[in-house]
Amino acid sequence: KRLILVGPPGSGKGTQSPIIKDEYCLCHLATGDMLRAAVAAKTPLGVKAKEAMDKGELVSDDLVVGIIDEALKKPSCQKGFILDGFPRTVVQAQKLDEMLEKRGAKVDKVLNFAIDDAVLEERITGRWIHPSSGRTYHTKFAPPKVPGVDDVTGEPLIQRKDDTAAVLKSRLEAFHRQTEPVIDYYNKKSIVANLPAEKPPQEVTAEVKKAISS
Ligand code: AP5
Ligand code: ZN
Ligand code: ZN
Repeated sequence: KRLILVGPPGSGKGTQSPIIKDEYCLCHLATGDMLRAAVAAKTPLGVKAKEAMDKGELVSDDLVVGIIDEALKKPSCQKGFILDGFPRTVVQAQKLDEMLEKRGAKVDKVLNFAIDDAVLEERITGRWIHPSSGRTYHTKFAPPKVPGVDDVTGEPLIQRKDDTAAVLKSRLEAFHRQTEPVIDYYNKKSIVANLPAEKPPQEVTAEVKKAISS
């Protein structure tokens, strides 16, 4: 299956994607994770992306389309994939369609993590992540066994630089202005499944599985 996860910051995309990945054996491409890795490694791409990311604005379409175009060539992505955080503009969605057309493929389903903005600040400011695995915790909703420490590796957890209430505001603005039109784009193709993303994680997982198999 070729799946897209779309939703505002904190809606649960990154929490659900490893579960879907394990279940359906897909390749998982998260542009946010890839960009953060590039920033940390100070690659030319990371240097270009950093300023926009710190402000909670979108990185340029050319930059992220380039990353995805490259990543989709991986053998593990030929049978199917989960895109988390891409496409985020209508231009990106159109470019993705072009890329897939060339490969004789198309997007099967768009999972829309629908949720009220008001819930997101608490989710974002309480988030802790284990950078190398992508495992995500929350001080209140999904606490690690030992505070500040990854359950599996015992390594320290970190908070994302853009996970402040102030930067969340711009990220939400970008979502409503630039990414909601992407949902309309796919609605016209009748491939959107709306998920109740405010429910507890296990219930969201069940809804995700239902949507994928339908
Ligand atoms: P990106 O990394 O994609 O961030 P985002 O879209 O803002 O999404 P988040 O990762 O914040 O949210 P999530 O839905 O994954 O939430 P999570 O599951 O972790 O992008 C970052 C930046 O990169 C962008 O601002 C932009 O600059 C740039 N960028 C990336 N892609 C781009 C693109 N295509 N074009 C241009 N620029 C791009 O959950 C959050 C918290 O809530 C966690 O603590 C979790 O434990 C908890 N939680 C999850 N589910 C539940 C639940 N059901 N109930 C209670 N708590 C829950
Ligand atoms: Zn995420
Ligand atoms: Zn809106």
